[in-house]
Amino acid sequence: MAHKKLFIPGPIEVHPDVLKAMSTPMIGHRSGDYTELQKRVTEKVQKLAFTASPILFSASSGSGLMEGAIRCCTAKRAIVFSVGTFGNRWHEIAQGNGVPADKHEAEWGTGITPEVVDQYLSTGKYDLATMTHSETSTGVMNHIGELAPVFRKYPEVVWCVDAVSSFAGVKVDVDALGVDIMVTSSQKCLGLPPGLSLATFSAKAEKRAQGVANRGYYFDLLQLLQFIREKNFQYPSTMSISHMYALDAQMDRILKEGFDARFARHDAMAKRVQDWAKKHFALYPKEQWASKTVTCIANTRAISVADLNKELGKRNLTLSNGYGKLKEKTFRIAHMGDLQMSDIDELIAAIEDILKLR
Ligand SMILES: Cc1ncc(COP(=O)(O)O)c(C=O)c1O
Repeated sequence: MAHKKLFIPGPIEVHPDVLKAMSTPMIGHRSGDYTELQKRVTEKVQKLAFTASPILFSASSGSGLMEGAIRCCTAKRAIVFSVGTFGNRWHEIAQGNGVPADKHEAEWGTGITPEVVDQYLSTGKYDLATMTHSETSTGVMNHIGELAPVFRKYPEVVWCVDAVSSFAGVKVDVDALGVDIMVTSSQKCLGLPPGLSLATFSAKAEKRAQGVANRGYYFDLLQLLQFIREKNFQYPSTMSISHMYALDAQMDRILKEGFDARFARHDAMAKRVQDWAKKHFALYPKEQWASKTVTCIANTRAISVADLNKELGKRNLTLSNGYGKLKEKTFRIAHMGDLQMSDIDELIAAIEDILKLR
């Protein structure tokens, strides 16, 4: 079957060199070679996350570490700041784990403002807050840089950021922002197959987790940390060693491209897609909130998105319909990972041709 180039917001295209690295023969997960691998990958990821904190890995997708974060680090009550489906997931996770939590849901298409964060945190009710950086369902990107000064006023609050669809495409300056736990998944801007996730873990988060009795087992973030410290960069159960090889190779590619160049490329691709969307359709989010890694386009022409995707499929291209209740009302073009402007141009030209937009 011919491969369809993916413009969906994960999984995304994976470079052949990375796929090749994934097929490296296995080593024992308790071997010195594995320790070296996880240590090497950790150091590279710390650079990209601009953090000195340990990097926790999980052989699960990102939702697992989101679960670990809210369960292990809420002693009192969590506040979930949601701007869409994945924001709401934090709240569902809290409920499923019996973690006391409230949710503030912004009007869809807009982000969380500093005033809203301040309003909730100033009540003193909360010791953990969650937020989505790039909300893949609505194409909203929260301005976490503008929220950081508010979080700084509340040092008792552990700040968790879901950077699943932004990390490695947009700068997430973890330590400068004061983010305690930043979670991301392999299958988005990192450009790996799905099945691995990682999180930064601050000293504040660690201290909090020490006071939480029921942290679960598989997603007990303290246990992940203890294994890194005591077992020298290992993982409590069996790691997806293939993913670690892939991440090692991909981090080398990212370092070679340069962080600034990578972020600028994502910026330029986002602008190209947003400008095109505004010309022929409209942006679903208010423009100032538009994500730099996935564009959610309002279907103002009432086209059949399903039919468009069928036609694109004949040309070996694919994009995403709207998520959940936004299906057919919107469609989404992801501009993540290793995609280049020429890929975006190819997709846009194909859509224009199919819909006769010129
Ligand atoms: C913003 C966001 N958060 C969380 C998730 C869940 O991540 P995963 O599928 O890796 O568990 C996704 C997945 O699409 C996402 O886009």
